[in-house]
Amino acid sequence: MGSDERGPSFTARVVATYRARHQVIGDVPIFRDPFAGPLLGDDVVPLDDDNRYVVRARHFIVARARAADDLLRAAVARGVRRCVVLGAGLDTTALRHPELDVLEIDLAETQAWKRERLAVAGLAVPPRCRLVPVDFTRDDLAAVLAREGVGPAAPAFFIWLGVSYYLDAAAVRATLAAVAATGPDAAVVFDAYRALEELADDARDRLLAIGARVRDVGEPFIGLFGRAELAALAASAGLPAVDIESDADLLARYGADPGLALGFADLVHARAR
Ligand SMILES: C[S@@+](CC[C@H](N)C(=O)[O-])C[C@H]1O[C@@H](n2cnc3c(N)ncnc32)[C@H](O)[C@@H]1O
Repeated sequence: MGSDERGPSFTARVVATYRARHQVIGDVPIFRDPFAGPLLGDDVVPLDDDNRYVVRARHFIVARARAADDLLRAAVARGVRRCVVLGAGLDTTALRHPELDVLEIDLAETQAWKRERLAVAGLAVPPRCRLVPVDFTRDDLAAVLAREGVGPAAPAFFIWLGVSYYLDAAAVRATLAAVAATGPDAAVVFDAYRALEELADDARDRLLAIGARVRDVGEPFIGLFGRAELAALAASAGLPAVDIESDADLLARYGADPGLALGFADLVHARAR
């Protein structure tokens, strides 16, 4: 995507805005995050909370954050003490889990913006958190992970939300392969948007409408995959155990109205075994 040439990621601001707004408006509570609002501060994106696209997008963003946090907690219960947040934006995992070693990966300018936001909010980077710049389209993520000590001796749970559709298939595969290379218990949760030909008309219209908005801010959707194609991509990268859940099912699981789903978004949990 190369948002480094344009400054920090605008879509990271938008999704942080959804999480912050969710803390204060009347949706079914899905994801509690006391840091969402303070961290975003004045950088909140002015959105109409009741706009039909905004309502659906907000529900998905908080449901995927909740699902990722549930999976992280399950990994911690199995003994994992480390989390890698890929394309972290204003993700607050490190603030919410100060007991874990958290490695945040993102483009350098977005990380610089996050450091500023943390400072303005009076929130230090947690002592066990490190921010390391990586461009998934250019850099060797596997080498960075190895350098940071992520491997079989110190397995990590990976969270990769809101990024796959901004990358092409090669970059998605390379990122998943870097996760897989960390060891036999490698696992990642990420979200994906489905290929247009797999979508119902209303979901396809929504994807195209939202796609036009993100293209206008310089972060176009590039990687849209059929479910079978995505599972094959993950398997070829070394993560053959793949569970895919629609956003409607996610919302239902968290007590929200599945009728508010985007209809094109999936949550993917991919594991080496
Ligand atoms: C929509 S935001 C999601 C942020 C965060 N994961 C969340 O859910 O709040 C997309 C994030 O991916 C990062 N990103 C996009 N392309 C990238 C790339 N090629 N390499 C590294 N990070 C990238 C952006 O900087 C941004 O922080």
